[in-house]
Amino acid sequence: MSYELIKVKPVTARVGAEIDGVDLAKPMSDAVFKEVHRALMEHCVIFFRDQQLDHESHKAFGRRFGELAIHPAIPGPEGHPEILPIHADEKSTYIAGERWHSDVSCEAEPPLGSILYLHTLPEYGGDTLFSNMSAAYDALSDRMKEYLDGLTARHDGEQQYRGRYTDMVADDSAKVYPRADHPVVRTHPETGRKCLFVNPIFTMKINGLPRLESDKILSMLHEHCANPDFQVRFRWRPNSVAFWDNRAVQHLAIWDYYPNVRSGFRVTIKGDRPV
Ligand code: SIN
Repeated sequence: MSYELIKVKPVTARVGAEIDGVDLAKPMSDAVFKEVHRALMEHCVIFFRDQQLDHESHKAFGRRFGELAIHPAIPGPEGHPEILPIHADEKSTYIAGERWHSDVSCEAEPPLGSILYLHTLPEYGGDTLFSNMSAAYDALSDRMKEYLDGLTARHDGEQQYRGRYTDMVADDSAKVYPRADHPVVRTHPETGRKCLFVNPIFTMKINGLPRLESDKILSMLHEHCANPDFQVRFRWRPNSVAFWDNRAVQHLAIWDYYPNVRSGFRVTIKGDRPV
């Protein structure tokens, strides 16, 4: 089916498309929303150029897709708890998303998707990679698909979040970070595609397996998911937006621009329990 109201230009055959003809800061008609939603389902991550989003318009766009989530560890700017600052400069000791992950997969109901708007980019570097998890699942052998069928894994935010954000949160000793069990292979609630749902940031162990076996299977799956065949690499420009379906892709931010500045904001849309 073709698109009538927006232009959709795939970046690879498997994942990622650039969308043209939409001003995300303006209220969106239902007809345009339906096409943007379809593009997201078909391409798993969609990119927009030359947008001007303030916190209100950013949140309003996110809310077209569902209720917004509040990050369990990182506070938003004053009055905007749903806004997640994404910022790196010469003082940074870490950046968000330096390893492959699906956002906050340690939540019992991990996000549907995330919308990242970057207004400031280094002159070069700072790309984001996205990897299609249904392509990764499809490429497994039938024997491995059978082995993984029905397995669940423990996802935990503790080791990722505890004590990490001392620049933003003085003391997190009273906090309890999310932890949840999810199927290793989830069925996408909208497209029906099977997607691998384990990642090196949050997935601690495959339940019911001996530790060595779990470690080796997870490490094989992480290596498999990082295969460039399933990926798209997004080159940011100032005022670009990337909107990814967190159920269908993992992503990785590359920190190859230190000490330069890369800065913007993300909103995250609530999702449902993986099945
Ligand atoms: C994230 O994991 O949300 C950060 C992605 C990026 O900065 O490119």
